[in-house]
Amino acid sequence: MSAPENPVAAIEEGLAALGSQYRDTFDESADEQTLRDAYAKILGKKKGALTRVLALMRHVPGEERAPVGAKVNTFKQEVEKAFEGRLAAIANEQRQADLQARPFDLTLPGRLALGRGHLHPVMQTRDDLLDIFRDLGFSVVPGPEVELEENNFTKLAFPPDHPATDMQDTFWVDTFGPKNEPLGGSVLLRTHTSNTQIRVMSERRPPMAVVSAGAVYRRDDDLTHSPMFHQIEGFLVDENVSMGDLKGVLTAFAEALYGKGIPLRLRPSYFPFVEPGAEVDIGCVFCSEEDGTRESCKVCKQTGWVEVLGCGMIHPEVFESCGIDPERYTGYAFGFGIERIAMLRYGIPSIKLLFDNDPRFLAQF
Ligand code: PHE
Repeated sequence: MSAPENPVAAIEEGLAALGSQYRDTFDESADEQTLRDAYAKILGKKKGALTRVLALMRHVPGEERAPVGAKVNTFKQEVEKAFEGRLAAIANEQRQADLQARPFDLTLPGRLALGRGHLHPVMQTRDDLLDIFRDLGFSVVPGPEVELEENNFTKLAFPPDHPATDMQDTFWVDTFGPKNEPLGGSVLLRTHTSNTQIRVMSERRPPMAVVSAGAVYRRDDDLTHSPMFHQIEGFLVDENVSMGDLKGVLTAFAEALYGKGIPLRLRPSYFPFVEPGAEVDIGCVFCSEEDGTRESCKVCKQTGWVEVLGCGMIHPEVFESCGIDPERYTGYAFGFGIERIAMLRYGIPSIKLLFDNDPRFLAQF
């Protein structure tokens, strides 16, 4: 900047101009941020207008500097005072506005209604199924998911190298002793809820009618199989229990679930812990021969039957491994997958949907 003829006058003019600028802009500032911006334009360290005026100081002869400097300081104090005053005024205006605004009512209900959760469809189905068996006189017991091989296989008459143990590919659990030494593979994630038969029959004496529900684990993974799924096990032990009693209770169960007159059939099948053993099919509820929907039914694959459970008369060896006299007592057992029933009940095409936990899916139940 070239030297002005009269630097002192130039500074005084500058201060006067800034004086009317800050008075106008401060008064016009309606909120704190605008006021702070207006303040920075005048007193801001780098880009403030006063800095430019002060640049003229170096042209002021030495003896005149002190009085000019004093004027500049007075000006600065004046601006600061005006700024503080306006700041307080704005805060006060804001406070008055808040006080006069419609009161904020904390007791009003929120505008965004929080969705209410509910039980997972598999758990809903489990509870409904357990209710059916409770009504039939069964008592409900829990059972562990991490189980001894003994209770999952051995005492259920699976011999160690019996081909039946291949039927269920198992997740073994490493176990460690007090010195962290591996104890070997005799613990597993249960492959079925039949372990509860062993646990309960080893503790209670007949008569007994028991159901148990819970998670089971197998190395299985496709559209209808998941490595973790849920089962319900039921069994009844007394004198003179027959296969007819089993069929009767299964019919009552199927009717409670799908309505009176639902067809039910037992097909001979093999499980090492029952003799005789059977698989149970119910009539497909998704199609019918009459209206021609059977031809394209994917659920029963056009057979009209859907397999729902395994069952049979409890094997005498199983009774013996639990200390129950097989000469005196007989009993039946059955077991089925809860997801399977839920899929049939709601027409769910893939078991994966039940485990993805997509809220758009779950909200439909
Ligand atoms: N535990 C058998 C399974 O998981 C089902 C079953 C239970 C069969 C009880 C017979 C008796 O496949």
